[in-house]
Amino acid sequence: MSKSILLIIGGGIAAYKSLELIRRAKERGIDTRAIITKAGTEFVTPLSVSALSGHKAYTDMFSLVDETEMGHIQLSRVADLVVVAPATANLMAKAANGLASDLASTSLLATDKPVLMAPAMNVRMWNHAATQRNLATLKADGVHFVGPNEGAMACNEFGPGRMAEPQEILEAIERLLAGPGPLSGVKALVTAGPTHEPLDPVRFLGNRSSGKQGYAIARALAEAGAETTLISGPVALAPPQGVRLIEVETALEMQAACEAALPVDVAVLTAAVADWRAQSPANSKLKKSDSGPPSLALTENPDILAGLANHAKRPTLLIGFAAETENVLAYGAEKRARKGCDWIVANDVSTGVFGTDHNTVHVITAQGAESWPELSKDAVATRLAVRISKALEKVA
Ligand code: C5P
Repeated sequence: MSKSILLIIGGGIAAYKSLELIRRAKERGIDTRAIITKAGTEFVTPLSVSALSGHKAYTDMFSLVDETEMGHIQLSRVADLVVVAPATANLMAKAANGLASDLASTSLLATDKPVLMAPAMNVRMWNHAATQRNLATLKADGVHFVGPNEGAMACNEFGPGRMAEPQEILEAIERLLAGPGPLSGVKALVTAGPTHEPLDPVRFLGNRSSGKQGYAIARALAEAGAETTLISGPVALAPPQGVRLIEVETALEMQAACEAALPVDVAVLTAAVADWRAQSPANSKLKKSDSGPPSLALTENPDILAGLANHAKRPTLLIGFAAETENVLAYGAEKRARKGCDWIVANDVSTGVFGTDHNTVHVITAQGAESWPELSKDAVATRLAVRISKALEKVA
């Protein structure tokens, strides 16, 4: 069934991006009806909006002269979702306080559909206590948000306040239109990337993990509706949408962040945690000297996976990863037993999987091993999310 949105275009320079949003939504089969606030018409014209959407663009209460055609109450309810982009400070303030002083704010008060806002404003306006108060009120009222992003702004300042890009808004729209996913109500924890263990202020012990598989899993769990926390070591990846990202450096920080995130229903630990750290990292840069390289005293890092397996708040479903170059199934099964987790996703790294976009995995559970064909890391993640939702259904 085709879906539709009511797009409220507020008065901000980012309004031009809403035209692109209408076009992209149409490409995805999403029909758009639009309301442009009075200030919004200073930035985009009703003519361009109606040309792109294929519908009349409503501009204020009096563009609804013929209430029999589409009254303002009806307009606010025919769509599956109301999207406010750009959501200006003024529109957010009106909506937070239940004002109904024009067609846009009246529609926001009258709607019985979910609302998504893409804020756009000057960084000081965004950071102002009043806007942050309105944001908290709107969130408590169930309004969804995408952005704002941080970056250079039209007003020559830098910081949070840039409207999310049309593609990001579209992704948020599609997530909301898809309704609650199979993992809605589930809390998930994912670790990803390497850890860096300092030797001195400039050097560290680390490994080559790209974090790609863990990031893909966090994204897939969030897309399936799970409230997802991603605890990540240093990587060069963009944070996945809709995921709470906690950045850490060391194994000890990762362990503390994992424990603080409990309780969760499912934890997927993909991080390549360094096995050792320097016993006493130097406070200043180690100097080269004639007496040769310094000797490093190392100490073992905690095993975060085994720690969660024995934790009083043990995740209901605890999943570890195992990178193996030989005897993948046997070593994977042994690791599952030794660490006390429920599943091990064992991957064969003999073919050089690090940093690439594909993976060949075997899911080892109490029932045995399931071998998946070579898949993209995104496909492994999506399949794992489906497998997790089926397993949690059985537990519930
Ligand atoms: O022992 P090994 O490093 O092969 O185990 C891999 C699994 O254990 C992965 O899930 C990894 O995230 C987890 N692990 C951990 N803490 C460590 C070492 C590994 O959580 N210190």
